Amino acid sequence: ARLVVLVSGAGTNLQALLDATADPAYGAAVVAVGADRDGIEGLARAERAGIPTFVHRVKDHATREEWDAAMTASCASYQPDLVVSAGFMKLAGATFLEAFGGRYLNTHPALLPSFPGMHGAADALEHGVKVTGATLFVVDAGVDTGPIVAQAVVPVEDDDDVESLHERIKVAERRMLVDSVGRLAREGFTITDRKVRFGS
Ligand code: GRF
Repeated sequence: ARLVVLVSGAGTNLQALLDATADPAYGAAVVAVGADRDGIEGLARAERAGIPTFVHRVKDHATREEWDAAMTASCASYQPDLVVSAGFMKLAGATFLEAFGGRYLNTHPALLPSFPGMHGAADALEHGVKVTGATLFVVDAGVDTGPIVAQAVVPVEDDDDVESLHERIKVAERRMLVDSVGRLAREGFTITDRKVRFGS
């Protein structure tokens, strides 16, 4: 399967995918990496791996819709089977979802439907939950509302701050992402009644 991965930051989830795809038995290859900003480690990781990159900044486009169309066109030019948002901090628009809906995945640092939005780790800590984790889901038109592919659980420790908690989440998140994307690629999947099942 061909993967396009979208990033906005450190790209450790991207790196985990790049490492996994080095094994042909994994069943998927990262064919391009896209971003909404320059100068991030995520893009550098792609360049070091010899993978083509594209960047579209919202502020370089007259409207959000034009930015969305540019992202869609660049992604589509690599003919992905799956698009993976891995720490990509922008919401896809209607054009993007029309092109990639049902095969656009996002990873979120909380156990959805708890703590959606930009601050999943901080909001869980603030709430005082004793476990949290990460969720891989199929993006729909809402914010972190799509059908769930996989979840991984981590404990919240008494002395956690946002950074220590998010780091623990990210360790579990990377493993979950690599395991699940590999299975989606190798086995296929169906979505019925919001339930994602592996196999075709
Ligand atoms: C991940 O925890 C992701 O879920 C969140 O931001 C983090 C990105 O990490 N939205 P990285 O860029 O993959 O290292």
